[in-house]
Amino acid sequence: MTPLQKADALRARKGGQPIAALTAYDYPTARLLDEGGIDVLLVGDSLGMVVLGFEDTTHVTLDHMLHHVAAVARAKPRALLIGDLPIHSYDDPEMALANARKLVAAGAEAVKLEGGVRQAEKVRAITSAGIPVVGHLGMLPQRVLEEGGYKKKGKTPEQIEFIREGAQALIDAGVCAIVFESVIGPTSKQLTRELSVPIIGIGCGEGNCDGEIAVCTDLLGSYPWFVPPFAKPEADLAGATHTAVERYLARVQGN
Ligand code: KIV
Repeated sequence: MTPLQKADALRARKGGQPIAALTAYDYPTARLLDEGGIDVLLVGDSLGMVVLGFEDTTHVTLDHMLHHVAAVARAKPRALLIGDLPIHSYDDPEMALANARKLVAAGAEAVKLEGGVRQAEKVRAITSAGIPVVGHLGMLPQRVLEEGGYKKKGKTPEQIEFIREGAQALIDAGVCAIVFESVIGPTSKQLTRELSVPIIGIGCGEGNCDGEIAVCTDLLGSYPWFVPPFAKPEADLAGATHTAVERYLARVQGN
């Protein structure tokens, strides 16, 4: 399938079988997740935190993203491969399109950016060039410093209207799906019912959106130093690594 066909197939999942999406940042993880049957792989700018060791995603550059998108693309996933446009790589429509093209040249099949109404023109510039775009609303990690932390969204009528208007502007500009991050459950459920593209939730309460996205290190238990409250690990790779190192030390050093 071409990237546009994959994006159309994603859009057609609205209200159907829930979408299962995960982040991936490297070749082996992408390959394993894709072999497992995941629908969407996102090379998220969360890589700044869970791979590169930064405090937050505001330190991630386009060069970081290109390096990791290329690694994931080498796995030739059947899943739709989305690459995040990092902070300040889409400050105006021309920049947004030029940098979306760079992500595509590195192997992304779609790009994701954060924000609603203020990003609509940039989304339109990218979708008009035939590149699928996924939106991201609710808690916006690239704005964590202005926001003073990771806060729940969609709690008041004003906040709900802000997300609704943002989502509609993104849909009008041609997005094929929208990620909702940390939008409270009832608001996620209500807006998912109203909006015409798939809403993929993280920290919104499982079952409230058209699908879920998780950071792969949260699912795999491989980043134990910070685990978000909504994460539901299905493995303990950190524990398995400690055990393997213990056994290796015993083998090599005999203690
Ligand atoms: O960067 C990322 O991993 C994301 C997910 C949290 C959706 O944007």
